[in-house]
Amino acid sequence: MIPDHVIDEVRDRADIVEIIGEAVQLKKAGREFKANCPFHEERTPSFYVVPHKGFYKCFGCGKAGSVFDFVMERQGMDFVEAVKYVAGRAGVEVTEVHGRKPEEDPNRPYYEITAFAQVWFREQLLDDVAGRDAREYLDGRGIDAEVAERFELGYAPDEWRAFREAALKHGFEEELMLELGLLKQSERSKEPYDGFRGRVMFPIKGVSGRVIAFGGRILETTSGDGPKYINSPETPIYQKGRNLYGLSRAKGSIRREKEALVVEGYMDAVSIAAVGFENVVAPLGTALTPEQALLISRYAKRVLLLYDSDGAGLKATFKAGDVLLEAGVHPSVVTFPDGEDPDTYVRAHGADEMKKLLRHSIDIIERKLQILEEKNYFSSIDRRRSAVDRLLPTLRAVVDPTLRDLYVDRVSKETGVQPTTLLEDMKKPSRPGVGGSPGRPSPRAPASPSPRSLRGGAERHLLKVMVRGVEWVERAAEVISREDFDDPYHRAIFEVLLDDPETRAPPPSMDPVAAQRFHEILVDPAELAHGTEIFSKAVTRIRVAALHRRAQDLQTRIEKAGSEERKLELVAEKARLAAEIRELDENYWVTATRRRPDDEPPNEAMR
Ligand code: UTP
Ligand code: MN
Repeated sequence: MIPDHVIDEVRDRADIVEIIGEAVQLKKAGREFKANCPFHEERTPSFYVVPHKGFYKCFGCGKAGSVFDFVMERQGMDFVEAVKYVAGRAGVEVTEVHGRKPEEDPNRPYYEITAFAQVWFREQLLDDVAGRDAREYLDGRGIDAEVAERFELGYAPDEWRAFREAALKHGFEEELMLELGLLKQSERSKEPYDGFRGRVMFPIKGVSGRVIAFGGRILETTSGDGPKYINSPETPIYQKGRNLYGLSRAKGSIRREKEALVVEGYMDAVSIAAVGFENVVAPLGTALTPEQALLISRYAKRVLLLYDSDGAGLKATFKAGDVLLEAGVHPSVVTFPDGEDPDTYVRAHGADEMKKLLRHSIDIIERKLQILEEKNYFSSIDRRRSAVDRLLPTLRAVVDPTLRDLYVDRVSKETGVQPTTLLEDMKKPSRPGVGGSPGRPSPRAPASPSPRSLRGGAERHLLKVMVRGVEWVERAAEVISREDFDDPYHRAIFEVLLDDPETRAPPPSMDPVAAQRFHEILVDPAELAHGTEIFSKAVTRIRVAALHRRAQDLQTRIEKAGSEERKLELVAEKARLAAEIRELDENYWVTATRRRPDDEPPNEAMR
């Protein structure tokens, strides 16, 4: 048999219109599709497919069911065969569990607690007395009872142990509740106390719709001065970088609209979904991650970014833009008037104005060009040079070949740099010290050496440190492999040193050019001081450069990929590489992390 959550996933990811459409000539009719029924003779269509509900129905013969029922009926398969067939179309891997009962989900105890907590928080919100302040607060923010119910909002009362008592009565384990962040414990307090107090509770669900975590927003009336939002910690059932707030509710709509709206926070998501923009998700208190971008890409290839329009918001926008491009998604930017976010905007101006704003979204590269223009980046040759540097990361990020061509073309027109030159530049790793964000102009463009000589420099630096002693060779061997070297002569020297760390003269068999280089390195070792610093900088640069070359290679393979499936795999791998590069290369984005960790007061030093 196939585990339930796998069946759910197959059902979620399957495109019922596509699968039925292979057997029946479907015509679009509003939100639905119709056709002559394949199960009985008829001349006028009474067979309907309802994609947002995931079923079909014939009003003539009464046949109806899910995508699995259709495949079973039509192809004469049993249920398991039908699931496997649909899974194949949807790109889901199905593992059957034979003979015995399905594996007991080891995470079940966690889900039982989060499910209980959600129900309990909801009850508190609905409670005449306990929920009054919270209901007033939500009302004040334009969220009425119906909307609160639709988004399953709740309330954690401003008391120390109300949740704990209720949960213990139900026999839940304190240890697990502590792990889930629903309870907390400090040195001073002997007994654990409620982790969320005096907060509106937003349940966070996994793709399959189970509650996996919570976000809690403080009320103005709440005692003490905690952070505005508290989020559940990472747990076995919740990794914030791999989930998106609202996705389980929004995914059908994202697929239908062929577009996702990405906002920064819970309130934005609820506010705009409440007035009809259902295809909205929010990252969970982090910058958008590659995993989140890939998650979106399963449902749509277009995203509108609806972030604040201040400096920090723009940085977050461009960063998210690159991550999305790396996942094969095409991002555009929606710009709000100063000081407004999607929530305040839609409340002040209404849904129609919001719709207009969305229609005026601007492609991410256009937006970047706009900002550079506003900041006078095209006023001199020097400035243009650095404008190009700021655009290159975005050009590199694009995995879709057509979009890539269009972007290169556009940037070429704007900067006056030939497309072929841009394409060459895109193959090189980012120049150290130059970020992709056009946020802050540097006072003057540094006269930096070309990327190639820098990289060669890093390789040479590393070798110079390595000839200082065996221990350096050993350290290098742990973190760098021969393939990481770009320069074949440097690679040869590296190999000689690995072979015999005490070599102090080029071996006779060595290529003459390599031998000459080796000689130079031996007679001119690095200054004795700062060995560690030179070493680690060089290692980082070499690894970043090596990763860039792999990314470049992947890009070529993406463009040549035969099947969509293969392509998606490669895109995922490239996204992982890009994440690794960003991790290593602090210079990739000259930007401070924008999010404040929970329980830390907001501060303004985010520039
Ligand atoms: P914002 O500070 O922009 O808040 O944080 P907001 O969404 O506009 O909230 P309201 O309208 O004031 O209620 C955006 C997102 O950043 C995370 C949350 O996910 C929030 O939705 N955040 C913010 C935190 O995790 N902790 C904080 O203290 C603040
Ligand atoms: Mn807000």
